[in-house]
Amino acid sequence: MARVHVVANQKGGVGKTTVTVSVAAVVADTMGGTPDETSVLGVSTDPQASMLEWAKRVGDKLPFDFEQCSDNPEILSKLRRIRKYSHIFVDTPGSLDKEEILKAVLQQADDVIVPIEPEVLAFTPAARTIQKVIGPAGVPFRVLINNWDPRDGESDLRQTQEFVQRKGFPLFNTVVRHYKLHTRAPAEGTTVVEYPKNRVALEARQDFFRLALEILGSNGEGPKHAGGNGVTTEAGED
Ligand SMILES: Nc1ncnc2c1ncn2[C@@H]1O[C@H](COP(=O)(O)OP(=O)(O)O)[C@@H](O)[C@H]1O
Ligand SMILES: [Mg+2]
Repeated sequence: MARVHVVANQKGGVGKTTVTVSVAAVVADTMGGTPDETSVLGVSTDPQASMLEWAKRVGDKLPFDFEQCSDNPEILSKLRRIRKYSHIFVDTPGSLDKEEILKAVLQQADDVIVPIEPEVLAFTPAARTIQKVIGPAGVPFRVLINNWDPRDGESDLRQTQEFVQRKGFPLFNTVVRHYKLHTRAPAEGTTVVEYPKNRVALEARQDFFRLALEILGSNGEGPKHAGGNGVTTEAGED
């Protein structure tokens, strides 16, 4: 049976699609499949379908199989029973009015990744999603700090870690840093496993490899306290 990893936060623009595509690509690549024979499935349940657009631009090189499911609730209720794949990564809508879709997907989830940007305005919507939707579904979740730019200094990062800690939410050790490469990837039709082999690109990839290790290494039961030891604070040139 597939393990279903859901990426959710009802705030838009926090990195759900970026994280879903990048982690799915890393896991597919690491598991040694080929684009034709992969054990990873990526699913978009977002009617806005930005993952679909990205997947189309990548084309045949996409390292995982892909399904757009927003108009197909039938498939959504069967995700866990799909036998062909070991891991399924699910992107979800970033708005409150699509809560039914998110609730349906959470019924199928083994674990949930909640991306949050390191800025105060991101805190309340993330906490709402966790307390009102993910918590009641009873699925293990972890918060992921995404899109942190080391050049902005550490104070936003620390503030975000403290917020997550105060709420008692589990947090990934990995912090995904801001890199222009990630911002450009959807338009350029690439994924993180195809980035060039220069130093900046390798650093950008490294965050998603680390994150994938954390996701696969435990059954969604991450550390219960915010720990900053996975963070490289070197300036993130891009
Ligand atoms: N770590 C990152 N580094 C650079 N850009 C990022 C990063 N994470 C997200 N982005 C950019 O931020 C924007 C919103 O991300 P997206 O994944 O579409 O969020 P969501 O799916 O939650 O709406 C996109 O332009 C995306 O490329
Ligand atoms: Mg999205």
